[in-house]
Amino acid sequence: MCGIVGYVGFRSAADFLMEGLHRLEYRGYDSAGIAVQQGDRIVVRRQVGQVQELSDLLTRKPVSGSVGIGHTRWATHGETTETNCHPHVGGDGHVVVVHNGVIENHDTLRDWLQQLGYVFHSQTDTEVVAHLIAHHLDEQQRLNGDSDLPAVCLNAVRAALQQIHGTYGLGILFRDCPDMILAARCGSPLVIGVGDDEYFLASDSGPLVGYTKEVVYLSDNELAVLQKDRLQIEHRTTGNVAPAIQTLEQVASDIERGDFEHYMLKEIYEQPHTIENALRGRLDEDEATAVIGGLNLTAQQLRQIDRVVLTACGTSWHAGLVGEYLLEEFARLPTEVEYASELRYRNPPISDRTLVFAITQSGETADTLAAMRECRRKGHPTLAICNVVGSTIAREADGGIYLHAGPEIGVASTKAFTSQVTVLTLLALYLGRMRHLSHPAGKRIIRQLQEMPETIEKTLRCHEQVQEIADRYWQFDNYLYLGRLYNFPVALEGALKLKEISYIHAEGYPAAEMKHGPIALVDEKTPSVFVIPRGGIHPKVVSNMEEVKARRGPVIAIACQDDAEVARIADDVICVPDVEEYLQPLVCAIPLQLLAYHVALLRGCNVDRPRNLAKSVTVE
Ligand code: AGP
Repeated sequence: MCGIVGYVGFRSAADFLMEGLHRLEYRGYDSAGIAVQQGDRIVVRRQVGQVQELSDLLTRKPVSGSVGIGHTRWATHGETTETNCHPHVGGDGHVVVVHNGVIENHDTLRDWLQQLGYVFHSQTDTEVVAHLIAHHLDEQQRLNGDSDLPAVCLNAVRAALQQIHGTYGLGILFRDCPDMILAARCGSPLVIGVGDDEYFLASDSGPLVGYTKEVVYLSDNELAVLQKDRLQIEHRTTGNVAPAIQTLEQVASDIERGDFEHYMLKEIYEQPHTIENALRGRLDEDEATAVIGGLNLTAQQLRQIDRVVLTACGTSWHAGLVGEYLLEEFARLPTEVEYASELRYRNPPISDRTLVFAITQSGETADTLAAMRECRRKGHPTLAICNVVGSTIAREADGGIYLHAGPEIGVASTKAFTSQVTVLTLLALYLGRMRHLSHPAGKRIIRQLQEMPETIEKTLRCHEQVQEIADRYWQFDNYLYLGRLYNFPVALEGALKLKEISYIHAEGYPAAEMKHGPIALVDEKTPSVFVIPRGGIHPKVVSNMEEVKARRGPVIAIACQDDAEVARIADDVICVPDVEEYLQPLVCAIPLQLLAYHVALLRGCNVDRPRNLAKSVTVE
């Protein structure tokens, strides 16, 4: 949460910072601000609201200069007022800071700094960092004078970081050292873009696309000095580090909306392609298995695995539930799906023969990262199923599988879910073929997977039908989402999509479990969305649907074409292609994504930037 950017070089810093903040806005959009070195002072512009409002402010009150930092905020400490906007100023304006993360000991530090005479203007933890650095700067200047100002500033930051507990990605400007940015990371991501006579700083690679292809990912406890012709990185304990330059693969079209009205819609429509990317080069028809190269475990080690733990949050957790069903069905491997926020503090028995996977789109989710670290600390090989290349989880995992879905910018996860499910299907096939799954069974799964991109293309033809249904249902305030077996996680995911972007109360349940409580909610004002494609227990779900209808609950069904039985009972049917049960989550998720999208639009909600949310949840 929160996005930070920085620039030092020869261009207009404000131009780069503003473009970068627009690209990072999915990380938080409560307020935005920039600070630019202009002559002998640092000019700060801050604005509550979305980045566009800051752009408008800058049109009225421009800033010029070629060194600066910027921030888009997802509030943690303090409301969304102008005084709480970043950047924050320390001392009497010597130091200006942007921060992503949470300073846990901010109260103690604030009291101490107040006693020293520092005056606070905001309720944020970040202002503590700004004053703390200013305090150490004064100390350093008193002790060492001003002879080597960059070194004095660096020492001040080193000293301040020693006192801070918590997480941070920091960008820091010093009024008296106007050609330099300091950047520090502990727990919140930072990437440096390397240009010719210029350096860029950002929370993720998005803002760097189109400016440079050379990037350096900072690691925890690293502190970087950025000047237009110098990049120096040091680690808190090991000293100077040679910058490890990597190549950025993204292109500008990956992060543009194109002709789509929203990123979410663009990403829904990308799914035939993203599923194809997840499968590319990973199907071995001769051996009837998947090719999964990055696990860094031998076939022998993998054969010894007797249990799998999948850990994740939100949508990725739902994908994990589908993964549980797949791994147990194909590989007969007992699998548990753990909320990362719980696993990180629990102490479940995990044997040496358990394989742990963290599932995450962003690779930066704080709880998932912490759960992964906890498992690694105990000595378990921990792998990642991740989308963002170079993200913290991708770099820290012992191995893993990339989704190759391209940047997902809409806050509501769509294409990442279907890619995660695709990759989990491949994993189940791979581990299954090492165990009980026969060659013909593997072949059949491969054939079905190969058809998936086209099947998803066909599924998207339901769009118009979904739109009409949204027109009839958008005013309802409560929804139930019901499904069984592979479609239970889909029901959970459908409910989450509706909740997060349209602010409607929606609950996902296993359809039969409804009778144990949620059926009490059913009335003519509570639609139930049944995920009911054909399959083994279709008649049972039909009975569950009848139970809802008997209580005058409106029913929308996601069902296969020509399902007369469902058509007879449901008020509205959205048709999806008929596929094997284990592939139904891929097709059934699509109409639910579209339904949430249209209902949110009709309710006037900001689809790509729903209130209170941020794309990467980098705080606990
Ligand atoms: C879903 O639409 C969400 N925005 C959210 O639940 C998300 O899936 C969750 O925060 C986990 O994110 P990750 O996959 O990046 O770890």
